[in-house]
Amino acid sequence: MLTVPLGGNYSTSMFDHGEAWWYYLAHYSRRITHYLEVGSFEGQSARWMLENVLVRNGSKATCIDPWEPYGDSKQELNPSWDTFHSNVKPFSDRVTALRGTSRHWLRRLDRDFDVVYIDGGHFQYEALEDCVLAWPLLKVGGYMIMDDVGTPTYEERHARLGVESFLATYGPKLKVLSASGAWQVVLKKLKE
Ligand SMILES: C[S@@+](CC[C@H](N)C(=O)[O-])C[C@H]1O[C@@H](n2cnc3c(N)ncnc32)[C@H](O)[C@@H]1O
Repeated sequence: MLTVPLGGNYSTSMFDHGEAWWYYLAHYSRRITHYLEVGSFEGQSARWMLENVLVRNGSKATCIDPWEPYGDSKQELNPSWDTFHSNVKPFSDRVTALRGTSRHWLRRLDRDFDVVYIDGGHFQYEALEDCVLAWPLLKVGGYMIMDDVGTPTYEERHARLGVESFLATYGPKLKVLSASGAWQVVLKKLKE
């Protein structure tokens, strides 16, 4: 069973979805895979992908995060650029870290990604915008995973509403594979 990343140091655990991800993404470990991540924090989800899925020469992770203090009075995150780089260091030749907002970077990428993970800003409009901007970057047949679509992580931040709006609107173009536990949604892109 594959759960948390084996390596790296994290101030808080953000990723325990390895088992579910492996179920859907294992086949990508057998070929060159391009992975896009919105919201990387200290690199835990990226590191899991690098250890388990992005194992073929030529596979790459593109990670977007402002790496600036984020949150509110109830839960403040302090994503560290240095900690992220330290945690993905063994795989640094496979990682492109784009420092800034998803709104900025998603408009500037043109690569066809096999897998996209949306785990950035958790206001509903941020989650919706990230899904919409990332959609053209995802290959047909590729997988998009959205996090924190269960109970809101922070007060007034309802990523679930943004993801549900996206699913309702883009429904004919995708197939939802898993919403198990209602914490993450895994979908497959069927058409542009
Ligand atoms: C829940 S954490 C990500 C956890 C990470 N996926 C992991 O498994 O370790 C959310 C991250 O989203 C980032 N974030 C917040 N607003 C963002 C935005 N507009 N664009 C990109 N990232 C953003 C935050 O800086 C934070 O690091």
